[in-house]
Amino acid sequence: MMNDWTENGYSPSSADQPVRIWDARQVNTAEQHIAEAGEILRKGGIVAFPTETVYGLGADAGNSAAVEAVFAAKGRPSDNPLIVHISQLEQLDRLVTNVKPVERKLMEQFWPGPLTLVMSVQPGAVSPYVTAGLDTVGVRMPDHPVALRLITAAGCPLAAPSANRSGRPSPTTAEHVAEDLSSRIQGIVDGGSAGVGVESTVIQVQEDGAVLILRPGGITEDQLLTVASSVMRDPGLSGLSADTAPRAPGMKYAHYAPRGSMTIVLGEERDAVRHHIREQLHQAEKRGERTGVLRFDEDQDDYGAALQLSLGSRYTPEVAASRLYACLRTLDAHGITFIMATGCTEQGVGMAVMNRLSKAAGGRMIHV
Ligand code: TXA
Ligand code: MG
Repeated sequence: MMNDWTENGYSPSSADQPVRIWDARQVNTAEQHIAEAGEILRKGGIVAFPTETVYGLGADAGNSAAVEAVFAAKGRPSDNPLIVHISQLEQLDRLVTNVKPVERKLMEQFWPGPLTLVMSVQPGAVSPYVTAGLDTVGVRMPDHPVALRLITAAGCPLAAPSANRSGRPSPTTAEHVAEDLSSRIQGIVDGGSAGVGVESTVIQVQEDGAVLILRPGGITEDQLLTVASSVMRDPGLSGLSADTAPRAPGMKYAHYAPRGSMTIVLGEERDAVRHHIREQLHQAEKRGERTGVLRFDEDQDDYGAALQLSLGSRYTPEVAASRLYACLRTLDAHGITFIMATGCTEQGVGMAVMNRLSKAAGGRMIHV
């Protein structure tokens, strides 16, 4: 048997056995498969599932043993809280103490969707591991039919971080999840490729109704401005001032990173950008590095790198978002040790794309 039920809950499947995968793409079997996965979640197991952003690794948010298993499977630092996923608005009443008028409007406008609201948690509503001891909880309703049906089948809100090993790029396919976690979890619900490709926007509404962006993501600043009168970025996000820690604890960790070392080259002069990249690649090859380029269509050139990948046009950040994490994994799969990247517009989802790219580069950015 792949997953044995023990007195303390599920034990992970053994390393040499393939992880259980429930196919939720076939209409005739999806319902049965989602019901089985929901049953395992209800009993305290941990199961990965698709959302419209990236795959999540779900656990019953009220079950501390299950939530601890999520942290262990990911190798996630315990001070980084998890987002709680709901399928019905009524579930919110038992999670948070009150909902501000602006929060209510944001939910009406953007749920289900890639927006996480950090709100005051009702004491005892979720395991303290979910909130990492904070008095707030991040909640979202994902816009994916499989995710919504699974939450309903489990019968409880699901705490779910992205289903990658901590520090690795987030998974946008079931295969990515299997790569990172297969021997560590009870199963994966396969719903095909995630849509948006970068995670949800995490926000906190201030007392005066202003919206503070703690993590840029699938819902853009402009979209938030259609509901809120004022939208600000958490100063800790820019990483410019050492003494402002990001308010979303997850944002302080080296994240989303490929194994190779990556540098982003920025500049208005496309020729200068290309020239700098060629120079750097040339030197790296001489040092014996295996080189890669992660660029936008406009930055195409004959770089002579071992691998060259495009994120699409620098003016279509939605396309870049949907490709980014898969590209980072492809660079790893080809054993690339030295990566030169270019940048795109920070408009719209471009803010999230550039945030993740810069994290993947460990903040290494050069302006030419
Ligand atoms: O799109 C997403 O949000 C995906 C899918 C699976 O839903 N989930 C996701 O979870 O990205 P995770 O754990 O990888 O990122 C959660 C982020 C972290 O940066 C964490 O610090 C922040 O949300 N967060 C969660 N609860 C918070 C809280 N109470 N206060 C501040 N930040 C919080
Ligand atoms: Mg994550």
